[in-house]
Amino acid sequence: MSDEKARIGLVGLAVMGANLALNIAEKGFGIAVYNRTAARVDTFMQQAGPLAEAITPCTRPEDLVAAIQPPRAIILMVKAGAPVDETIAALLPHLSPGDMLIDAGNADFNDTRRRAAALREKGFAYLGMGVSGGEDGARHGPSIMVGGPAGNYEMIRDVVEAIAARYRGDPCAAHLGPDGAGHFVKTVHNGIEYADMQLIAEAYGLLRANQTAARLSEVFANWNAGPLNSYLIEITAKVLSVTDPQSGQPMLDVIVDAAGQKGTGRWTVIEALKLGQSPSTIEAAVAARSWSADRGARDTGQGLFGAPPAGAGPLEADLESALLAARIIAYGQGFALLSAASEQFDWSLDLARVAEIWRAGCIIRSGLLDDIATAFRGTIPHDELAFAPAFAEWLQRTVPALRRVVAHAVQEGQPVPAMSAALSWFDTMRRARGTANLIQAQRDFFGAHGFARLDAPGTAHHGDWPA
Ligand code: 6PG
Repeated sequence: MSDEKARIGLVGLAVMGANLALNIAEKGFGIAVYNRTAARVDTFMQQAGPLAEAITPCTRPEDLVAAIQPPRAIILMVKAGAPVDETIAALLPHLSPGDMLIDAGNADFNDTRRRAAALREKGFAYLGMGVSGGEDGARHGPSIMVGGPAGNYEMIRDVVEAIAARYRGDPCAAHLGPDGAGHFVKTVHNGIEYADMQLIAEAYGLLRANQTAARLSEVFANWNAGPLNSYLIEITAKVLSVTDPQSGQPMLDVIVDAAGQKGTGRWTVIEALKLGQSPSTIEAAVAARSWSADRGARDTGQGLFGAPPAGAGPLEADLESALLAARIIAYGQGFALLSAASEQFDWSLDLARVAEIWRAGCIIRSGLLDDIATAFRGTIPHDELAFAPAFAEWLQRTVPALRRVVAHAVQEGQPVPAMSAALSWFDTMRRARGTANLIQAQRDFFGAHGFARLDAPGTAHHGDWPA
């Protein structure tokens, strides 16, 4: 334990908080830690080993505040929602003007904006800091997405950059914009994470009937050595290789097929809809998780309609290309949402920088992100990733395989909601003239809502519809 005042404080010593605190201590910064359950502080100090030298354990909020050099910076790593407000309320009476709180949890960016405004009135700064990378990332280098006053970020930038993952030496951490920008970007990161995981699960579903888990592990490992290279493909290969010691079966075969979700994927969809966006691959992934959780209904459904027999399965090479096409579209939908939010909230988000800080440390890190960053450093028509020359070329090459895979799955009765959402998006965006003329005519028919004509200005034309 250090006698000097700590450079930074941290509240919340559950898995993520404890690992982040150890990471900070390891990088040579004195840190004061506090947890509501005092016993956890003791176990954490034992877990810290030699790093305990740099750590000041505290069992009361006032002790934590007193242990930090002013102006103070205190990281909150508590469960999103009410616990954040409770923690702020517990610290507030002990803070001095100029101190700052940094919420490093998966907060709803609306809450972050509200908290930032309330604390600003009281003379305190508030940063919303998205941290991705799970347990290991928090300990050894996460990707860090910061929102809040830029000047306040400068005060802790050295700490943040020191603990962040690095991509070829570049820290995967950045101040992205004011108030909720960091948490919004983290939410969309998770939305993309949902889409990517669902796409991978669909590929697994298409192959599993005809392949052993061990063989599939090799398929994913091979894909990981190609353009699909990414953390999520890598861990999928590893997951598929594990045998359950109890039953001797592949571990995956004994896991209940009902996905959990804490909310960030759903928030991505909710915020997207509010912004007039529709990231359909993310929507499909959230829906698929919800459907998966309804096991009773699926049992009844299978009893009623029967599950289709396993078919031949698509070609592996097709599936690799299909996954790549759908992944590009999913990332593109996420970035389009970031672009819409940036405009709405006046954040001036640097999309290239977002892609850069996702290249290492975070859950969606993948080989593609460097190409995405390069694309956004150039000019992209309509900020639509799929229209960037490099990605348009990739899609020209890979969409035919996506089409074959989706057609095959549909024919065989295999659900591929995210892949087919990606394909429908592509097929919609490649047509200058679609079918919404009919929607407009219907709206005008029953509600006199008016429509625009191709051959005349104005938007309030009406049809001479039969009664
Ligand atoms: C990350 C992860 C992390 C966490 C999510 C998962 O970036 O490190 O996204 O934030 O795993 O909370 O959320 P679900 O429980 O909703 O899948």
